[in-house]
Amino acid sequence: MASTQGAAEKARVLVASNRGPVSYAREEDGSLRARRGGGGLVSGLSAIGAEADSVWVCAALGDGDREAVRRAAGGLLPAEDTGGQRVRMLDIDAEVHSDAYNGIANSVLWFVHHMLYQTPVEPVFDTEFRRQWASYEACNRAFAEALAEEAADGAAVLVQDYHLCLVPGMLRELRPDLLIGHFSHTPWAPPDYFRLLPDDIAAALLNGILGADRAAFLTARWADAFASCCAAVLGPDSLTGTAIGVHGLGADADFLRERAHAPDVEERMTVLRAEIGEGRKAVVRVDRTELSKNIVRGLLAYRRLLDTHPEWREQVVQLAFAYPSRQDLAVYRDYTAAVQRVAEEINSAYGTPGWTPVVLHVKDDFARSLAAYRLADVALVNPIRDGMNLVAKEVPVVSDQGCALVLSREAGAYEELGADAIVVNPYDIEGTAQALHTALSMPAGERAERTKRLAAAATALPPARWFLDQLRALEELQSS
Ligand code: G6P
Repeated sequence: MASTQGAAEKARVLVASNRGPVSYAREEDGSLRARRGGGGLVSGLSAIGAEADSVWVCAALGDGDREAVRRAAGGLLPAEDTGGQRVRMLDIDAEVHSDAYNGIANSVLWFVHHMLYQTPVEPVFDTEFRRQWASYEACNRAFAEALAEEAADGAAVLVQDYHLCLVPGMLRELRPDLLIGHFSHTPWAPPDYFRLLPDDIAAALLNGILGADRAAFLTARWADAFASCCAAVLGPDSLTGTAIGVHGLGADADFLRERAHAPDVEERMTVLRAEIGEGRKAVVRVDRTELSKNIVRGLLAYRRLLDTHPEWREQVVQLAFAYPSRQDLAVYRDYTAAVQRVAEEINSAYGTPGWTPVVLHVKDDFARSLAAYRLADVALVNPIRDGMNLVAKEVPVVSDQGCALVLSREAGAYEELGADAIVVNPYDIEGTAQALHTALSMPAGERAERTKRLAAAATALPPARWFLDQLRALEELQSS
């Protein structure tokens, strides 16, 4: 795709991510509506807006996006859709992108780093996998070429996540003058698990990231795992040209506190209070319907709580918000169905005319999530593995009365929040049920104190600082 920028307009700071800050949907009247994206990655990267001469490169992800790109000059989205940020959206062939995104990124790399395979039968790296891998390479090349076109001499480029592991190496070849960083928002697999991948693919992924001047992670645990994989796959000297960094991503306190007191959130609190019922406690969980989030075991633990502590029957409701995610993949659709089935089973086994033990909402609604955060007595965050988990950080920031946090030790957030959470092994149903009981029984004073400390820890690294620290660290590498 030809760039429409003149030399003077080249960017000094660039971000690349598969999902961009805005997406387009077609309205009923046929018009295209731009919607700002949410989530940790987007909120952290939005600090790029403060940088003059910046550009954000992302992929078109659906038909709405593709149409918007075709209308936009050179793939640059209209400023009124992006809050003024220069965004170049890449119109990569839909099948090629789907093979790379659904096939490699979400069905292989996500599975490896979250250790989700049922290994007696999976994974199977066959010719279909090799075909999809060629698409992954093509997508990464499209990003590298666009970045090479957009970047000014010596510009800093921050490449995001497992969709774009090959970009740093490809970009380094095209533009040796650039400062390149790569950031992983996921956990990183330990070497024995990472080496499920065919040797050449494992090496290509690591060498791709090592094309960067700096590779960064959300916690020291994931950074150490990456370094161990490099040593195991590529040899002990492979890391010499790349610095390793750790940047935890915190909650955006100012934004959340203001947003959580808007009228639409207050309205939803009224509805949720009615769903919970007078005098009952609320256990809240909010996730994408994502295999690694462990929603089914969270429900099983809640059922076990109702079994072993019958005093909680009719006294508690689990509000489970499970928002659709990656529905092109059968395994995600099956998981969504399993979540619904288990919730219904609990309701039919324990429910009474005046009490629904599990209230499951599947329609994504950020205002309702914030309303639930404010009302929660207990937040359940029990992922199998998670790069960070921002829900665990957002709840204490907006909680009205203080909220006890049940937290998996396998979430990145555990490193910062573990001291004031009730920590669980995410596979242990009995242990999680007991943790729910402890959390529900916590005296109000202790709950409020812990919530205050959790909120302080959760906001220690605001998203803007997360972004700027990475940029500064890259620039320092150059000056040293
Ligand atoms: C994780 C990844 C992000 C991704 C997000 C949503 O947080 O680290 O890169 O954007 O999930 O997933 P999706 O597949 O919808 O982009």
